[in-house]
Amino acid sequence: MKALSQLFKLIYSIWFVSTLSSCNKTPPQITPIKQVNWSDSISQYGSSSLGLELYLDQPDLNGRSCVNCHLSPTGFDLVFFGKSNSRAQDSIIIQRAVFDPQTGHGHVSIGDAYHIAAYLRSLRISTQTVPNNNSTVVPIPSGISPENVWNGTTPLTEMQINNWDFRNNIAISFEFPKWFAGDETNSLAHDNTDFIPEIDLLTAKEGDVSTAFEAYLIDPNNPNFLALMQTAHYSLTEGERHPGEHNYYNFTTSFDYQRWMATLYFQHAIDPSNNFNFGDELSPNISNFSIADALWDAGNIARRSQDNGDGTQEIDNRLQNELGWLYLGWLTNYGARNSFETQYLGTALKDYGEEHLATLVILKSMISRSDHSQLIYDDIFSLSYLSKDEWLAGAMNFACNHVINGLNNNNPRFILLQDDQKTVTLNNLGYTKQNIINNNFLDSTQKQNLIPLVDSIADFVTNM
Ligand code: HEC
Repeated sequence: MKALSQLFKLIYSIWFVSTLSSCNKTPPQITPIKQVNWSDSISQYGSSSLGLELYLDQPDLNGRSCVNCHLSPTGFDLVFFGKSNSRAQDSIIIQRAVFDPQTGHGHVSIGDAYHIAAYLRSLRISTQTVPNNNSTVVPIPSGISPENVWNGTTPLTEMQINNWDFRNNIAISFEFPKWFAGDETNSLAHDNTDFIPEIDLLTAKEGDVSTAFEAYLIDPNNPNFLALMQTAHYSLTEGERHPGEHNYYNFTTSFDYQRWMATLYFQHAIDPSNNFNFGDELSPNISNFSIADALWDAGNIARRSQDNGDGTQEIDNRLQNELGWLYLGWLTNYGARNSFETQYLGTALKDYGEEHLATLVILKSMISRSDHSQLIYDDIFSLSYLSKDEWLAGAMNFACNHVINGLNNNNPRFILLQDDQKTVTLNNLGYTKQNIINNNFLDSTQKQNLIPLVDSIADFVTNM
């Protein structure tokens, strides 16, 4: 099978190159950028009924069809993030699709490109999509600035924290990754600030990932989507998932694998033919696996490229990628995944000068954790070194009393089940206490109020 497909690829390449080199004598066909009116040619020569098939199944010289990289079973992302000006959109589809032997850019013949463009045009009309001009994947949260969400002194309640609307109403000062980094004037395939990566996991891993992807293309329903995301996730080695450990140091490749999965995630989230939306969860136990893991993991690999390499492997645009992806991932489940949300995201926010937001994120994560999670206690420690100083006393007071009340009421949520969790927690509570004692902003009364609270939690944990 494999040899046969190689042979096919070879024959195809010879045909492809010879076809295209004959096009070479008619320059406008291979330098599409110079032809002004592509829309008319698409109407004249393009057949929308042929386009989807070509999008899915017409391999380029590297054996990859559009869907290998763009991943949407229908190409809907090209419509959704496309240009609202339909002439501009037509021309950009042609520019990107047509193979140019001089630059090596592009993928298919001009005839095929017309069909694909005609199909995408009809998809826009049938789905009544208003293209968003490659604006952000979800709206950038705007509204109240973090320092105005709370005054730092009014006692907090769990209900109040749950009403903080991070997705829509608490402003951030940084960007989310765009769908495409490039535009009609600039092809930026190697830029790493966007979703679509240069690699594709289908080619890199084949096997189970291809099988799950085929099933998803045939029926892109939520169960097939979950199965595909899980298969892709577990196709990675431990090192690929945690570069900097397991003797694996290729941070760029790891980061691209996660972006590939993140692309898969978001094309499904924007697709109008399913009922899945950003932030929805599909797995029965999200503390083990969340459908949105790739978003968080992309940010985490950016972070690791600074901390875990030998200092030379930091990926390009590291802090922007770290912060944008971690925050996007966090917005899906607010810490219910039980990763190190508050340490990692909190640190990135603090590094970026967003200490108020870091404090709010820690408080929200703490009340979103799953039952029995050690992270509830870790969040208290996170507050002790990441909180905005002016908010530390108030935030710490809420966090400690929240846990103490739960423990006093025998709420099983706060009970740690494993001995190693208790050991780590007691250590962290020790550091928490030190951080409070060493903090130069807190006055002695504030310290005298907080320290017994931390001690009291430590007593509970010791006796669990
Ligand atoms: C090898 C992977 C790969 C294949 C195959 C591929 N693309 Fe792309 N495509 C990309 C990447 C990566 C970007 C984003 C690059 C950038 O930002 O400049 C992109 C961007 C685009 C854009 C967006 C341009 C813009 O700025 O708005 C369009 C349209 C597009 N591709 C269409 C196609 C079509 C149609 C096909 C099939 C004929 C195709 N692509 C095949 C990787 C691929």
